Amino acid sequence: MKTDIRNIRREYSRGGLTRKNMSENPFIQFQQWLEEAINAEVNEPTAVIVGTVSEDGRPSTRCVLLKELRDGEFIFYTNYESRKGKQLANSPYISLTFLWHELERQVHVEGIATKVSPEVSDEYFKTRPYKSRIGARISPQSQPISGRMEIMQAFLRESIRFAGHEVKRPENWGGYAVTPNRIEFWQGRESRLHDRFLYTLQSDQSWKIERLAP
Ligand SMILES: Cc1cc2nc3c(=O)[nH]c(=O)nc-3n(C[C@H](O)[C@H](O)[C@H](O)COP(=O)(O)O)c2cc1C
Repeated sequence: MKTDIRNIRREYSRGGLTRKNMSENPFIQFQQWLEEAINAEVNEPTAVIVGTVSEDGRPSTRCVLLKELRDGEFIFYTNYESRKGKQLANSPYISLTFLWHELERQVHVEGIATKVSPEVSDEYFKTRPYKSRIGARISPQSQPISGRMEIMQAFLRESIRFAGHEVKRPENWGGYAVTPNRIEFWQGRESRLHDRFLYTLQSDQSWKIERLAP
């Protein structure tokens, strides 16, 4: 029997947002919410949906893991020759959507993505488990492959080649730093009258804060 998904609905009632409880600085606010998501043991608290723009102006999304917040930037790592990498080389406009179901919270970020320095990518690459480092070297991310065997063989070959040696970061793999100009915090409320606060970056680098209708 097919479930009638029109009847799947839930009231959101965990909490509310008031202007006076929102930080003047959206990064401090974000850090606080991320910490709360981690402490609440939500599933994959750092998972984020990344939106990019295709060469023909179409939206394109996928999930990645946030790896660092540094100097007001959101950093994630990927293959620079992947579909998203090629799209970002063509257009740096990017969006990030964090969704923490268990807390009935969502954060939307919009901004510009730039590659982090090779030193920053190296620093993070070294912290990755051995097998993830090998995987990053051999996967032609987003390219069609003949089968799983192809990737497993490449993985084995590279593992043997690097046995006993430091696994170097390949040049086509590294971080993107997202510099935001718009950050929205969303908290689910009863009767779909949710709370939303939008931070918009002004020309003097201050943030304008507005409540938005649900
Ligand atoms: C929970 C989760 C976390 C992921 N984290 C990453 C990540 O940090 N970096 C990455 O390149 N891909 C990550 N992926 C895989 C991407 O969603 C995607 O398949 C891959 O980056 C290729 O995307 P593209 O073809 O649009 O470039 C993750 C997927 C999931 C479901």
